[in-house]
Amino acid sequence: MATAEDLTLRPVRPADEARVLELTRDVWEGRDYIPRVFDRWVSDAGAEFQAAEVDGVVVGVQRIRPYAPGLVWYEGLRVASSHRRRGIARAMLEAAIEEARQQGFREMRLATRDQPAVNLFESASFRRMVEVKWWRGLRVEGGEPARIPDPSEASRLWSLVAASPGIERYGGLVPDLDGAREHDATEIERLATQGLVRVGPGGRAVALLREPWGQNIAVSLLAGGGGALRELLMALRFEADADGLRHVTVNLPPGHPAEEDLKASGYDFADAERSAYIYALIL
Ligand SMILES: CC(C)(COP(=O)(O)OP(=O)(O)OC[C@H]1O[C@@H](n2cnc3c(N)ncnc32)[C@H](O)[C@@H]1OP(=O)(O)O)[C@@H](O)C(=O)NCCC(=O)NCCS
Repeated sequence: MATAEDLTLRPVRPADEARVLELTRDVWEGRDYIPRVFDRWVSDAGAEFQAAEVDGVVVGVQRIRPYAPGLVWYEGLRVASSHRRRGIARAMLEAAIEEARQQGFREMRLATRDQPAVNLFESASFRRMVEVKWWRGLRVEGGEPARIPDPSEASRLWSLVAASPGIERYGGLVPDLDGAREHDATEIERLATQGLVRVGPGGRAVALLREPWGQNIAVSLLAGGGGALRELLMALRFEADADGLRHVTVNLPPGHPAEEDLKASGYDFADAERSAYIYALIL
């Protein structure tokens, strides 16, 4: 039986597409996102999309993507169901960590929702930084979208975010599931430059957005509370309607005080059972 010792890693090539799609077919009841991003990943010279081969057959993939100074994002780890529990994922991850170390990165981060992966990353000394649950508010007609602040407002907005109740539950990060950065004034400025910040009435509530995965607005961090936050949460639902999107999703650490404001603004748990986690390893 082939084991991790027989493994070689090489870049994924366009010709691997059929095999890679085959090995993602049974992942997440057929809803793996890799088929959608394959073309982009295989042609992206800014990241390493790697295939693990045993006897000339691709049995796994992974991707290492630099996304901020000193930081690499680890994603897309898959091992063919025919080859699982033989140490292949562990060997692939170890090679990725070693490579990131040699390239001088300071930290590797990732997001996951799956128990096998949680076990793997924790046994490889990754530290859990933040847990988030999914909330969802459907589009609603008839109101005004929230204000989009200018990047020059970043340091004032950061003062509000830093003092916001529940901020400690974010573990110091903006839990963007495609690349979590530290939350600070610089990050708010970066997001504002991309039009990814929304502000509630009187500047007393803030939502940091991320690129959505579907037809929705996606929020990765909420700050503020009470009436101002509730108005902001409604304004996001109005914005979804105005933009022809279906809903707003909010990732929020469980036990965060904004849970009450979400409920009061017509949001519910999109997936009460499962959390997503962001893990980090100092290299
Ligand atoms: C998660 C996945 C990559 C593991 O691949 P693998 O090659 O079977 O993993 P390994 O044999 O290297 O196991 C490494 C560790 O992962 C954990 N693990 C792997 N499969 C597990 C399972 N089914 N249940 C619980 N823990 C599991 C264990 O800690 C294991 O160490 P151990 O064997 O010493 O107990 C594979 O199951 C997979 O592709 N799953 C579907 C996609 C997915 O969830 N990817 C991760 C997204 S972040």
